[in-house]
Amino acid sequence: MKNTAAATDSGRAHTGGSSSLSLFDDLPREAREPLGPGAFVLPGFALPFVNELLPAIDAVAGRAPFRHLVTPGGFTMSVALTNCGALGWTSDRRGYRYSATDPDTGLPWPPMPASFARLAREAAGAAGFENFAPDACLVNRYAPGARLSLHQDKDERDHGAPIVSVSLGMPAVFLFGGLARGDKAARVPLAHGDVVVWGGEDRLRYHGVLPLKEAPHPLLSQLGPIRINLTFRKAA
Ligand code: SIN
Ligand code: FE2
Repeated sequence: MKNTAAATDSGRAHTGGSSSLSLFDDLPREAREPLGPGAFVLPGFALPFVNELLPAIDAVAGRAPFRHLVTPGGFTMSVALTNCGALGWTSDRRGYRYSATDPDTGLPWPPMPASFARLAREAAGAAGFENFAPDACLVNRYAPGARLSLHQDKDERDHGAPIVSVSLGMPAVFLFGGLARGDKAARVPLAHGDVVVWGGEDRLRYHGVLPLKEAPHPLLSQLGPIRINLTFRKAA
């Protein structure tokens, strides 16, 4: 299995020479859908973690409530956001930045729950990026109609680490473009439990999310009609 995957799947080139075998080294090739040499969808990868993730998200949002940030251009984002981990991403009229404290409370962001860190590390490993140790997790909440326009994740100091992005709740259409804003973007349907990982030469690809359409999902009774996205980064 491993050799077949390595022969057809250049994401393997990003293991950085590490010889440690992850639990997911034998992940069947069909269990990861390539979006590029260093970019993969891992369908359903987060499902075994969901029971741990949901209470942890509630705990994070209890300490650092979701908010709609304003961009430097004065636009209020339709997606509501909070963070956990040593650093949190934030935006206001002065710019985008990572901050060790929540500007709304002045307190440090809630620590990253162990289940979050474990999922991020295992998903990155399944995509060929071993030993991913994120210091920031953005928690995005989408209500129907919320969208995220095409952007690059480039406020991080370390572009050597991948981005790991976890979808929970309502399905969404993820846009995965190229290295230039005008490049044609693939439309990638993401369901509850799917994880997308992009790194290496794909690390700075433009991406976004189409306006969320109301649709059923397995956690409707617990979450209601929303989508939660966890985006893990190595920011410092
Ligand atoms: C992001 O780009 O930060 C979030 C992507 C998503 O919600 O799937
Ligand atoms: Fe992003």
